[in-house]
Amino acid sequence: MEELENHALKILVVGDSGVGKTNIVGRFLHNTYNPHANSTTHAQQHIHTLNIGRRKVTAQVWDTPGGEEHMGTMSGLYEGAVGAMLVYDVTSAQSFQNITEWLEDMKEERDDYIVPMLVGNKCDLDNQRAFPVFDAEFFAIRNDMLFMEISALEGTDVDFAFKTLLNHCC
Ligand code: GTP
Repeated sequence: MEELENHALKILVVGDSGVGKTNIVGRFLHNTYNPHANSTTHAQQHIHTLNIGRRKVTAQVWDTPGGEEHMGTMSGLYEGAVGAMLVYDVTSAQSFQNITEWLEDMKEERDDYIVPMLVGNKCDLDNQRAFPVFDAEFFAIRNDMLFMEISALEGTDVDFAFKTLLNHCC
């Protein structure tokens, strides 16, 4: 197991509480969805091996706690990470505004490059959008981030988002 972890591509999933991080990870790892998942209090790592094209890639995916009290306390977690998903909820303008802080947090933690991906979750709630998708696209372009909208509930593009990010990391 340790051998596997040493060669795995470390990906962090960060963002405000309730944006759907645990369900995104659950969908990616096990194709499961739990609407009653407990709020995450400690970062948890999961190892997952997948094929990207003809390559076999091992990912070490970290689901992290999202409460405001955790912002700025990710110390050490970014160590060894090659990519990060910065997740907001498309129905929550606040969670999108806070991406700026999650991004700053990441940059403070690491001075070398980590591939950042902006992820808008809950795109199944299209009629409850809090702001136009263009705002997020624009933010991503301005900050040199990959960008994708996904739905953990419906499974839309969750795999694709991880594969795209991992592909940019290896
Ligand atoms: P913390 O652990 O507190 O940081 O939260 P989290 O970001 O891990 O969110 P979690 O996965 O626990 O989901 C929070 C709530 O959002 C739950 O009620 C989920 O059912 C709901 N949720 C997650 N993903 C989706 C989605 O794609 N669509 C919809 N409609 N709801 C979702």
